[in-house]
Amino acid sequence: MDAVFWHTKWEQNQIGFHSPVPHPFLVSYFARLNLKPGAHVLVPLCGKTLDIHWLLAAGCRVTGIELSPVAVEALFQDLGLVPQIEAVPNAISYTAGTLRVFVGDIFECTPQSIGRVDAVYDRAALIALPEAVRASYAQHLIGLAQNAPQLLTCVEYDQSKRAGPPFAVLAHEVSALYGAAYRVAELEKTLLPEGIKGLCPAYETVWHLSPKGG
Ligand SMILES: C[S@@+](CC[C@H](N)C(=O)[O-])C[C@H]1O[C@@H](n2cnc3c(N)ncnc32)[C@H](O)[C@@H]1O
Repeated sequence: MDAVFWHTKWEQNQIGFHSPVPHPFLVSYFARLNLKPGAHVLVPLCGKTLDIHWLLAAGCRVTGIELSPVAVEALFQDLGLVPQIEAVPNAISYTAGTLRVFVGDIFECTPQSIGRVDAVYDRAALIALPEAVRASYAQHLIGLAQNAPQLLTCVEYDQSKRAGPPFAVLAHEVSALYGAAYRVAELEKTLLPEGIKGLCPAYETVWHLSPKGG
């Protein structure tokens, strides 16, 4: 999945991953992050998710990272916000109020540009990436967020039945990717009524990653 793949998806509005409501796992389990008012939440590979609307309404400061300017312009428009747009190293920064989104490649973002993060909300980010990239992504995200706790959603299905994205990321892989830095706890596992695009049965899982020693 290179950048062209995702730019094309957004330009052709092929965004089946975009949900018309905030994710029920976010609504149910956000409190587990135990954040203070005004906490800074990093949303990697954010698209134009309504989860950002929900986090802002919950009083969070939000930083998103997203490749597609089409997605980010739609996000601000849906929120009724007019962003200030400026070029920053390796990205374009869109800011309005307590929302900032970097339009660029997450692998080009640095902890210095993001600032101190209190939590990460990863929905359909890790699972958007092929297996060969996921270990680098996980390490990069840990560094970007400086070990901040995470709420992570994944899907589980038989990868031999269908190519991703979304890619299946099973419990053993979550532990392998994050177990050295975090205590890894599965909070819920739900059968997806339509499976993966109606082609194979699938579960959705939500994980709480809490920093070891934190
Ligand atoms: C499956 S979508 C999920 C979007 C959002 N999290 C949601 O739940 O609706 C994955 C998103 O990641 C973006 N993306 C893919 N690779 C990226 C990268 N290297 N850096 C930043 N964004 C990326 C894509 O443009 C796409 O919007």
